[in-house]
Parts: sequence; structure tokens; C-alpha cells
Amino acid sequence: MKEKIDLLRRETVELIDRCSSPEDIESLRIRYLGRKGELSIILRSLGALPSDQRRVVGQAVNSLKEDFQRRLDSRRSSLEAKQEQQVLFSQTADVTLPGVPHMRGRRHPISLTMSCIADIFTGLGFVVAEGPEVETDYYNFAALNFPADHPAKDMQATLYITDDLLLRTHTSPVQIRVMERQRPPVRCIMPGRVYRCDSDVSHSPMFHQVEGLLVDEGVSFGDLKGILGFFVQRMFGSATRLRFRPSFFPFTEPSAEIDISCVICSGKGCRVCKETGWVEILGAGMVHPAVLRGVGYDAERYTGYAFGMGVERIAMLRYRIDDIRLFFENDVRFLEQFS
Ligand code: PHE
Repeated sequence: MKEKIDLLRRETVELIDRCSSPEDIESLRIRYLGRKGELSIILRSLGALPSDQRRVVGQAVNSLKEDFQRRLDSRRSSLEAKQEQQVLFSQTADVTLPGVPHMRGRRHPISLTMSCIADIFTGLGFVVAEGPEVETDYYNFAALNFPADHPAKDMQATLYITDDLLLRTHTSPVQIRVMERQRPPVRCIMPGRVYRCDSDVSHSPMFHQVEGLLVDEGVSFGDLKGILGFFVQRMFGSATRLRFRPSFFPFTEPSAEIDISCVICSGKGCRVCKETGWVEILGAGMVHPAVLRGVGYDAERYTGYAFGMGVERIAMLRYRIDDIRLFFENDVRFLEQFS
């Protein structure tokens, strides 16, 4: 019996050594100490031994059992610690590896320019209004005092959807929509997309305008000149000069086209200003009394001014870009340069 116990001790010591996981330890425990385990069977058979042997063998088996139990526990905890370390190790980040760079998005130069224009005017008390890009002939032309079949309609290469529906050719129809909704005083800017059948280095079939409208009692052409002077110097710097040229729009009288001294060559003459020293950026004028009457305003009591500017033209001057198509090709190497 003693030999059998010694054999069991050596056997278990070796088996515990060979365990490589807490699960192995558990199956060893069941194999020796479970209900049908080898040690349990020996302990249960002690009663059959003669009483002189029973004590000696009993003590030896019990000490083997305790010893086995202790070894199992200590091996189990060291295996568990090792397992935990492996998990931690597999989860560590190698801080010496190169990082994965994130591309940062930017606002489009046209959006940046529109925000800048809007900021200048909202700072003067103008509020932003918007209208639809698909317009009716009425809002785009008739309400703006374009006579039906008048050649003035040819000034704008209109893209028609049906006889009556079209893509708006300017943001001026929003003037009408705003005035229909409210009584004077009106102080609005109206940014948005417009469409014309036109395409070359300085024309795109879709482009952006910002319209301005102010209607109140006693508004004069001098007010228009004052506000545009303020705007231009804010936008392009205080050295920028302004030039009003007489012009014609059916919805303003008198009308003017406004040039600024070329910001590229400071007025000396270059390719951008076609050697003239001046660049046109705006159309403007006093709101025609027929337009005011059309929206139900008292044209004897109220006067107003309106202006419309091309955002692409302003962005090209601001960022010194010589081809309008760059704005719409979505080449990241181009777009990346603005912030
Ligand atoms: N709507 C005109 C255009 O697109 C510009 C303009 C706006 C002129 C307001 C006068 C007043 O050319």
C-alpha cells in the first residue's frame, strides 16, 4: 500500500507539472479527487483494512491528498496569472508604430466666400433669406419688370424646364418673394445658386450670387453707394476703389454696374482686369417703382436699393484664381488650400 501511495505521489507531481491551463488542473482534480477519483476510492476502502494498518495508511493517504490539493492550487494560480498576462500583452498598443493620419475636411472656397459676404452684411443688420432654384417665369422675369418677349430676357441665357418653369438666372426673384411676405422696412441678403447656359474660363452654367435689398422711407442712391463702399473695403481691403458705371436692368432705375480697382495689380493693368485696372463685381440700382407697386408697396412713400454680386468672381479675386472651373472639379489638391 505504501508503495502504491508513493507511486501516486510521483505520478501526480509529474502530471501537475505538465498542466498548461487552469482547465487541465480541473480535470486532474476530478481524476484523483472526484467521486470516482483514485484517491477517493483508496480513502473509502480504508475501512476494510485491519485496524493497525488503517491509521498508518490513512495518515499517508490524507497527507498525499492535502499535498496534492496544495500543489493543484498553487499551479492553478500561477497558470491563471500567466494567462492574464498573455491577455494584457496581446492588448497593448505598440506606440512606436507610425500613426494612421486622418484627412481633415475643409469648407469649399465658394462657401467660405459666401459666409464672408454674409457676415459683412449681417453685421449691418441685414437678414438672410432664400428662395427656390426652380422658378416660374413670373418671379424670375415678369415681377421684375421684364416685359413679356422683351429682348432684355436675352441678357440671361435661360435654361427652361417647361414654358413657365425655369432654373433661376439670378437671385433677384428672391427680392419679390421677400417683399410679398413682409412690409417695409426690408433689409435682406439672399445668397444662392443660379443657372445660365454659358461656359468658359470665367463662366460656369451653375454659379452663385448674393443679392441685397433694402426698402424703407427716404432711401437714396447715396445710401447704396455708401454700403457698397463699406462692403468692398471690408472684403478687399481699405485701399480698394469703387467705380459706378451707368447700366440697365429692368428692375432698377437708375442702374449701375460696379467695378473695383483690380486687387491683383492694384489698378496698374494685368491679365485679370484685361489691362484696364478695373474688375466688375456687382450689378445694382434703385428698385424700380413698378416692382414696388407689383408687390403692393406704396411707391410714393417707399424707395429702395438692390444689388447682386457674383460669388465666383469675388472668390477668384480674393484667392487669385484664374479659371472658374477649378471651383467645380473637386480636385482635393486645389480644395486643400483653403481654410
Ligand atoms: N440680377 C442682376 C444680374 O444677375 C444683378 C442685379 C441685382 C442688378 C440687383 C441690379 C439689382 O445680373
